[in-house]
Amino acid sequence: TGKVTLDTGFVNTASCRSAVTYIDGGEGILRYRGYPIEQLAERSTFLEVSYLLIYGELPTQSELDEFTTRVQRHTMLHEDLKRFFDGFPRDAHPMPVLSSAVSALSTFYQDALDPFDPEQVEISTVRLLAKLPTIAAYAYKKSIGQPFLYPDNSLSLVENFLRMTFGLPAEPYDADPLTVKALDQLFILHADHEQNCSTSTVRLVGSSHANLFASVSAGINALFGPLHGGANQAVLEMLETIRDSDETVESFMRKVKDKEPGVRLMGFGHRVYKNYDPRAAIIKTTADEMLAKTEGNELLEIAKRLEEIALGDDYFVERKLYPNVDFYTGLLYQAMGFPTKMFTVLFAIGRLPGWIAQWREMINDPATKIGRPRQVYTGATERDYTEIGAR
Ligand code: CMC
Repeated sequence: TGKVTLDTGFVNTASCRSAVTYIDGGEGILRYRGYPIEQLAERSTFLEVSYLLIYGELPTQSELDEFTTRVQRHTMLHEDLKRFFDGFPRDAHPMPVLSSAVSALSTFYQDALDPFDPEQVEISTVRLLAKLPTIAAYAYKKSIGQPFLYPDNSLSLVENFLRMTFGLPAEPYDADPLTVKALDQLFILHADHEQNCSTSTVRLVGSSHANLFASVSAGINALFGPLHGGANQAVLEMLETIRDSDETVESFMRKVKDKEPGVRLMGFGHRVYKNYDPRAAIIKTTADEMLAKTEGNELLEIAKRLEEIALGDDYFVERKLYPNVDFYTGLLYQAMGFPTKMFTVLFAIGRLPGWIAQWREMINDPATKIGRPRQVYTGATERDYTEIGAR
């Protein structure tokens, strides 16, 4: 039935039409719904950007107020869902805890799972946006043995998340304004990136008419991988390994270039950006501002040195490998007080509105078919079954 073309990794194959995010990898351009990422990172807020991605337009003040109130009203978790966290080992990585809890939302909201009922999709959208930061904070609290804090809905999304993560029941918690601003900006920078691995997963799962929670839960699992969202954790671990071992920056780079198995310069390279990653450029400025205060940051020094060597080295130049969004994010998250294990969770909170916007676009597009790639078969030709004693 027609000619099948092999395109491993979908390097040249478009899986859908989309009006959400535009990327020009050669020019280093990223726009959400037409708005340049630089303007949004500088002037917008994460909830406003979420609205833009999901509904297609920037909200008016009253639309934003109404949206904010709706999201705030749904931040609490069902008390039974809170007990869910008890079942995991204390040292569990928070990413599978996150995806499991999101998957479990399907069991708590069984009356709102119809992907073709706009009202049900709408309430699921709001529930997800509201509850993911709470789930993320509880996954962290569980890992350090501290009690869960109820959300405080007088706070902004980011302040609320920081309080639930770092606050204690008996103490007032005042988030550092610089941290609030930087985290909000990091969420904006991660909010969508067209058909990346996790978003394609969300769409693929959704193309079978699986509900929004099930699709997003699958996306979280895709994001967990070290070549995708897990890269921010991998970068920090790489920097720490270099710091704590006899390895010099130079000898590490030699291993990278010799392609020693499993050794890559994490936080470098991108499937689409072949000139620079505009998100990395924005983050670098924020990182310089925030990390300037933490004097003698050895890991920052190592990162800068790695970048300096890579940008002047033929191996990286020829392959057009530049720092990506995750090269500096880990250092920022660490400076904010997050443990390494939480980095990819932060990426997931940021990417959520993109997953939702893309899922909704997919489900409303009459051209959508169930995702069902073909293959190029390389196995045995027909052969006859032999009895077990004759093999
Ligand atoms: N360090 C060393 N060599 C690299 C790297 C790297 N980070 N990235 C690519 N290469 C080499 C690769 O070995 C290959 O060389 P050759 O042509 O000699 O075989 C060439 O560059 C092309 O790489 P590729 O793996 O074919 O490129 P890709 O588009 O399939 O992979 C990537 C893109 C991001 C997975 C890859 O660059 C990588 O593994 N980077 C490190 C992980 C990372 O930082 N991921 C975060 C991506 S941005 C956040 C997100 O979207 O999740």
